[in-house]
Amino acid sequence: MSLAELNARLAAKPAAELRVDGLSVTYNTARGPFHAVEDVGFTVPAGTNLGLVGESGCGKSTVVKALMGLLPEGTGLTGRALLDGDDILGLTDDALRDVRWNRIALITQSAMNSLDPVYSIGDQIVEAIRAHEPVGRATAWARAEEMFALVGLPAARLTEFPHMFSGGMRQRAVIAMALALNAGMLLADEPTTALDPIMQSQIMARIRGIHAHMRRSMVLVTHDIAVVAETCETTVVMYAGKVVESGPTGQVLGRPLHPYTMGLQNAFPRLPVRGAPRQPLISIPGVVPNLASPPPGCRFAGRCPFAADLCRTTPPPVAAAGPQQAACHFTDRAEEFRAAAALPETWRKMRAAA
Ligand SMILES: Nc1ncnc2c1ncn2[C@@H]1O[C@H](COP(=O)(O)OP(=O)(O)OP(=O)(O)O)[C@@H](O)[C@H]1O
Ligand code: SF4
Ligand SMILES: [Mg+2]
Repeated sequence: MSLAELNARLAAKPAAELRVDGLSVTYNTARGPFHAVEDVGFTVPAGTNLGLVGESGCGKSTVVKALMGLLPEGTGLTGRALLDGDDILGLTDDALRDVRWNRIALITQSAMNSLDPVYSIGDQIVEAIRAHEPVGRATAWARAEEMFALVGLPAARLTEFPHMFSGGMRQRAVIAMALALNAGMLLADEPTTALDPIMQSQIMARIRGIHAHMRRSMVLVTHDIAVVAETCETTVVMYAGKVVESGPTGQVLGRPLHPYTMGLQNAFPRLPVRGAPRQPLISIPGVVPNLASPPPGCRFAGRCPFAADLCRTTPPPVAAAGPQQAACHFTDRAEEFRAAAALPETWRKMRAAA
């Protein structure tokens, strides 16, 4: 098969749809079960981007690992994740080999973990291509050269080993690898966290550009709400292992219904508007509850400035306002909460009480 034929085959692969439903993950630890993710659900329509946000430890990477079949052995896993209708949760190793890179590809937080130190980067990309497509080495190598060009790396460096690359170059090499088979679904877990700020924006711009060009589907995990606002049609906000709010990005970030989303938004620096006073940075006081024994009511109650007695005893139901959903007892008071959440005093009082 020639490179042109391979490229045509890969270009014909459609973008994938992913429907995650009731996903729960329980790690087995020396101290007992740890419920890292509970009853998480979301849908990524084909050809769209979904941003998964929430502070450190809320379970974002656990969701991604569950989807890629990368959880440690013995981890409790329930729910479904339908990739174009096929459940990809808990597949056997053989079945997984068919899905990974080919139908769903991953760009991780640390590129080093995705690359094998003992093979050249070119050999690894060639290997991945040939595991799924009936092509000779020369054609696969030519495809790898094209992918390197796409991410801005010189083809001559394909023969080098991962340790010979800088952090930014390794991250680009992993992106090249993830794009090599034109998988319909891309999972990007903090793809730029390990890089310096200039490299971060360069790499993010590259992922966005490539993505828009190829019209793939993507789940983008990030701490950076500004990146989600620019890149993702849908936003899912997680807190302490659960989805607390989800919906179209404009609504979730523009008119949040959940106090945690309101707080998260305040915790991010806004772009300064010329002439306007700088928005003070508010951070959410307190820490995420221990998920070895989650609190009985709303998991955010210990940090929420609007918590009432009901919140501490009863888990909130999911309330929907059109496609926007939030798990809070008082979504009907969201407008009042938004106004209060914009004031630093609201959160400062919490800090004083904590
Ligand atoms: N293999 C494991 N065994 C036990 N607990 C784990 C394991 N991996 C993760 N955890 C715990 O599960 C919780 C969720 O972790 P996870 O890595 O999914 O969070 P995250 O949202 O990706 O955080 P970050 O933003 O820091 O990457 C954390 O409390 C973490 O300590
Ligand atoms: S349910 Fe109560 S504690 Fe939880 S976010 Fe809503 S108001 Fe705050
Ligand atoms: Mg993570």
